[in-house]
Amino acid sequence: MSPFLLTRTLPEDATDAALRADVQQGLTGSPKTLPPKWFYDAHGSDLFEQITELPEYYPTRAEREILIARSAEIADATHARTLIELGSGSSEKTRYLLDALTDLHTYVPVDVSESALTQAGQALVAERPGLQVHALIADFTASVKLPKTPGPRLIAFLGGTIGNLLPVERAAFLASIRSLLSPGDALLLGTDLVKDEQVLVRAYDDAAGVTAAFNKNVLTVVNRELGADFDPGAYDHVALWDTAHEWIEMRLRSRTAQTVKIPALDLAVDFDEGEELRTEVSAKFRKEGVRAELSMAGLELAHWWTDAEGRFALSLSVAR
Ligand code: AVJ
Repeated sequence: MSPFLLTRTLPEDATDAALRADVQQGLTGSPKTLPPKWFYDAHGSDLFEQITELPEYYPTRAEREILIARSAEIADATHARTLIELGSGSSEKTRYLLDALTDLHTYVPVDVSESALTQAGQALVAERPGLQVHALIADFTASVKLPKTPGPRLIAFLGGTIGNLLPVERAAFLASIRSLLSPGDALLLGTDLVKDEQVLVRAYDDAAGVTAAFNKNVLTVVNRELGADFDPGAYDHVALWDTAHEWIEMRLRSRTAQTVKIPALDLAVDFDEGEELRTEVSAKFRKEGVRAELSMAGLELAHWWTDAEGRFALSLSVAR
């Protein structure tokens, strides 16, 4: 068998249909919303890479610090023979795990980006003879069907991306992850933690304006894909801390009253002056909350590791 396999579980036109449905729903409701997954076209992915290097955006560095310190313990606790990574992107941080997992037989990166999967997968098989890489083109928020691979399985979901799901979506997502595991298999989950409000807000409203550009990029995506006429310059970037929900919200605030046409949906959307469109929720967590959410899904918290400053956590939980 070739050491690199690529399987498409998403129909070629699924993305377009999903974007149309999300834009139709999100821009005709009140308040207006768009799901954060549409930030990540090639330009948005590049902007996100830049965000990870900003002085204000600590989560990527904090998570890398934990992976470097704890990968050996993770390997020891799981003895994983199959590593599945949801939203693998460039698989950059996964290197530490891959190097530590000495029993590993198959790596299954799952991502919507075929180019990222091919690039990362080809590089890995060249570097690591004997390792099988079976990449899946799939939307990890939908149901993923995994190839038959040897256990024990370890699923990794890094970056704090679980925080971009709303609480009900998180519960469904964790239950679907549990359904991919057998008792004794494990989940490695990255979660950003509740901390000083100023530190949080700055991480989502950086001085160089990269996050503002990233936020506005979703309008460019809708313009290109659905023929809309959003003027990204007519909106202000907003990042705020919602104390009750313990999440950061990113919004785009319309500077003026304006009407946006979306020809592909035969839709005209009115914005009032100052009206806000919610583009992202990024929930921040506490240990007991993570433990409870995992437990509800049939996963038992076994390890909780943070960076030295206690900003970010990696948890390892085991399927009951
Ligand atoms: C790393 C995808 C979880 O919520 O922090 C970065 C994306 N949004 N800046 C996050 C993001 C604004 C992000 N994730």
